[in-house]
Amino acid sequence: MNQSGLHLAIIMDGNGRWAEQRGLPRPAGHRAGARAVRAVVEAAPALGIGTLTLYAFSADNWRRPPREVAALMGLLRRFAIQEAQVLAKADVRLSFIGRRDRLPGPMLEAMAKSEALTATGRSLHLRVAVDYSARDALLHAARHLAQAPAATREGFGALLGSPDVDLLVRTGGDQRLSDFLLWECAYAELMFLPVAWPDFGPADLAACVGDFRARDRRFGGLTAPAPASAR
Ligand code: IPE
Ligand code: IPE
Ligand code: MG
Repeated sequence: MNQSGLHLAIIMDGNGRWAEQRGLPRPAGHRAGARAVRAVVEAAPALGIGTLTLYAFSADNWRRPPREVAALMGLLRRFAIQEAQVLAKADVRLSFIGRRDRLPGPMLEAMAKSEALTATGRSLHLRVAVDYSARDALLHAARHLAQAPAATREGFGALLGSPDVDLLVRTGGDQRLSDFLLWECAYAELMFLPVAWPDFGPADLAACVGDFRARDRRFGGLTAPAPASAR
């Protein structure tokens, strides 16, 4: 993994409205959303991103109509099968976060195969969140913590298994976290964009990273003074 790179997390939202605005069924928006992923992944390493976590299906998305859920599961399975070769060639490691006990068998199989095929990727760690809930992940980690009395923030973070998020981007216009990486976003820079996910491309990604680099992250401290020679 490109350990020194940024951890960018994206809530890929707005697919359904993108489709509805075009008079298309919602799954057409999800298909367009899946197509948008490749260009963003390709552009990420050159922008200094080491880890890219994409929110694809939340634990609460099971509440959607069965047809939409089935369309999403089919797309995720195809993504795992079709992108694994491309990602392996691009030296990208693909892995999935979230629960695995409620997903359809063919989906689980495709996930495991794509993870194995890309396991040695070093240019980028692409993590796709499927059946993911930050609250569930926190509860799960807390249960393990009960057995380790000398708990630290670092230790708890390691139990959660996700690095801290540097930049969180949500497309689609809503300004909320929807149960995504709640612990890991403690000091994340937040960006909420009106653009729907299917219309998000490498230029938008570069603009987000540029905006991020111009921000002053203080982590509760103060901005470091300029060196004396520069004053
Ligand atoms: C994001 O798009 C994809 C998933 C949540 C699976 P939505 O389907 O939520 O699109 P909107 O928010 O309804 O436009
Ligand atoms: C969050 O989007 C989940 C994903 C993008 C996968 P939702 O569309 O499900 O979130 P809410 O319901 O608007 O909060
Ligand atoms: Mg949505």
